[in-house]
Amino acid sequence: MSGLLSGDQNKIETILNYVDRRHGPTAASWVRALAAATRKFTAGDSAGRRVLPQEYSHAVTTLEWLLRIEPGASLELMLAAFGHDIERYDPEAQRVEIGDFPDYQSFKLEHQKRCGEVLCRRLISLGINETVSRAAANIAAGHEFGLDTNSRLVMQADSLSFFANNWPEYYRQKGIIRSKEKARFMFDRLSARNKKIVRRICRTRMKCAEADAPAYGALADSLF
Ligand SMILES: [Fe+2]
Ligand SMILES: [Fe+2]
Repeated sequence: MSGLLSGDQNKIETILNYVDRRHGPTAASWVRALAAATRKFTAGDSAGRRVLPQEYSHAVTTLEWLLRIEPGASLELMLAAFGHDIERYDPEAQRVEIGDFPDYQSFKLEHQKRCGEVLCRRLISLGINETVSRAAANIAAGHEFGLDTNSRLVMQADSLSFFANNWPEYYRQKGIIRSKEKARFMFDRLSARNKKIVRRICRTRMKCAEADAPAYGALADSLF
């Protein structure tokens, strides 16, 4: 775990240096503030509920993927990518539970809407400019289905982060039957170019002799 966290911290410091160079110190300080709050909220239980240990990694790697596919991303877009799933761990949010919805689509629609609301409140409470906070929240509110160009970019980065970083742990926790629906949803919304990236990641990792190989083998069998 400590290795994972230090890996995430290295990644976020690299990203912050990049943001500082490209957008200036204020932009970097706002991304840093959201990262610090997220790290705190995901370090253990939040508001009496269990927070999955991979939430922080997922936030960091979604921002990392966003900057790979869109190096000129605006500050609003970066904050949206980092905080896109915030309702799952912010202590002031009431988490959306899949069991309360008739199907996966309506669960995801409510999840993205709630993420927009929670992100807006959280960014403003961190002292981030209100116009920027509202713009970031609007993007996050479309991250599952891609309502416009910006939310589609976060959606792509979210799926890439899921397959490149979260998939093995998700598969180990849920098994292929329960993971398949999520994997299909996350894969189908990718662009043709990004589907190719996921197939390449999958092919490379299923051939390696590491613990993640079976998870990527199962993914390849069920998706491609
Ligand atoms: Fe999400
Ligand atoms: Fe996500």
